[in-house]
Amino acid sequence: MDIAAVDEVLSTTRAVRRRLDLNRPVERDVILECLRLAIQAPTSSNGQNWRWMVVTDADKRAAIADIYRSCGEAYLAQAAKTAEDPQTRRVYESAHALSQTLARVPVHVIPCVEGRLNQTELVVAASEWASIIPAAWSFMLALRARGLGSVWTTLHLMKAAEVAEILGIPDTVTQAALLPVAYTVGTDFKPAARPPVETITSWNTWDAH
Ligand SMILES: Cc1cc2nc3c(=O)[nH]c(=O)nc-3n(C[C@H](O)[C@H](O)[C@H](O)COP(=O)(O)O)c2cc1C
Repeated sequence: MDIAAVDEVLSTTRAVRRRLDLNRPVERDVILECLRLAIQAPTSSNGQNWRWMVVTDADKRAAIADIYRSCGEAYLAQAAKTAEDPQTRRVYESAHALSQTLARVPVHVIPCVEGRLNQTELVVAASEWASIIPAAWSFMLALRARGLGSVWTTLHLMKAAEVAEILGIPDTVTQAALLPVAYTVGTDFKPAARPPVETITSWNTWDAH
C-alpha cells in the first residue's frame, strides 16, 4: 500500500468552497466511481441502507441553493463579522461565499439513509447515523484523490422537507448532509492546524488534560 499517498488524502481533504471549479463539468462516471468506493463503508447490521441523491439539474440546484441561503446566509454573514478566532472567521467567510455560489456548483450530492432517523436512544441513533456518515466521508476522500472537492454541509437540513419535495425524496428516507461537488482549482491542499493529538487522547482512564 502506498502509505504516503493514503496519508496525503487523509490529511488534505479539506472543506473546499472557494476553490470549487464552477465552470468545469463533472462526469457522471467519476461520481459513480466515488460512490462505488463509498459504499465499502460499514453499515449497522450490514443494513446497506445508504441512498444517494445526485442533483445535476440546474433548476433544482438553484432551488436547493435558495433554501440553503434562507437557512444560513444571514447567520453566516453575521458570524463572519463576529468570530474572534481567525481560523473560525475564515471558515465563516468561506461558508458565506459558498452560500452565494452554491447554485453554480455543478453537482449536489445528498447522502441519504433509508429510514427515519428520529430515535433518541443512543445506541440506535449512533448506529443509524454511522450507517451513512462514514460512507459519505469515504466519498469525499475518493473525490479528493481524483482532483475533485466538496464540503460537508448541514444547513439545509433545517428545511430538509422542502428539499425532499423538490427532489421527490420519500418521507421514509433521511437526508444526512449536502455535499456540493466540483473539480478543484488546483490540488495543493494542506493539512489544517489541529491540536496535538496527545492532548485529546486518554489511555485506560479518562484524562481531562
Ligand atoms: C457536521 C458538519 C456540518 C457542517 N456544516 C457546514 C455548513 O452547513 N456549511 C459549510 O459551509 N460548512 C459546513 N461544515 C464544514 C466545516 O466548517 C469544516 O469542516 C471545518 O471548518 C473544518 O474545515 P476543514 O474540513 O477544511 O478542516 C460542516 C462540517 C461538519 C462536520
